[in-house]
Amino acid sequence: MISDKLILDACCGPRMFYFNKRHPNVLYQDIRVEEKGYIPIRPSCEVQPDIVMDFRKMSHPDKSFKMVVFDPPHLITGGENGWIRKKYGILNKQTWREDIGQGFKECWRVLEDYGTLVFKWNEESIAIKEVLALFPVQPILGHPTARSGKTKWCIFIKIPEVTYLLM
Ligand SMILES: C[S@@+](CC[C@H](N)C(=O)[O-])C[C@H]1O[C@@H](n2cnc3c(N)ncnc32)[C@H](O)[C@@H]1O
Repeated sequence: MISDKLILDACCGPRMFYFNKRHPNVLYQDIRVEEKGYIPIRPSCEVQPDIVMDFRKMSHPDKSFKMVVFDPPHLITGGENGWIRKKYGILNKQTWREDIGQGFKECWRVLEDYGTLVFKWNEESIAIKEVLALFPVQPILGHPTARSGKTKWCIFIKIPEVTYLLM
């Protein structure tokens, strides 16, 4: 039987980029739960994943999803009480390379063959080139230039036996 949850969002946060924040085909995952009001200046903001799990070590079987969405924290610094930090999380200065690299590996493992991985990054703290260098495969398309905006979207496709898809 095919599960309704065809899509995994490995770190959904407050689901800001969804047109439908309760899409029935998405399994929303995050490492934390936050109730409404946890950011006083953003009172409707909440983090309510379907499942609390660490993207570095997921218990989903191999090849479980047709699409995986990976939008990890991207800021290295941010005030202890800054609302952006609370809303989107923050990278660990010492371990972010291992954390993001391991997260990508896990997302790739749980993605079906011919499935699509959507990766989002913001270059405020770290250039996307530095992050893509941590991954064993490269995106098929995305933002190869940095002319406009710091937010970058990349699309990967999992073609069996092909380990490198060069831009
Ligand atoms: C940039 S936000 C995601 C924003 C989301 N895409 C949206 O539309 O609102 C990153 C999220 O990753 C979560 N996160 C950080 N480390 C994680 C981990 N090891 N496993 C799962 N989620 C993690 C944070 O709690 C945060 O909610």
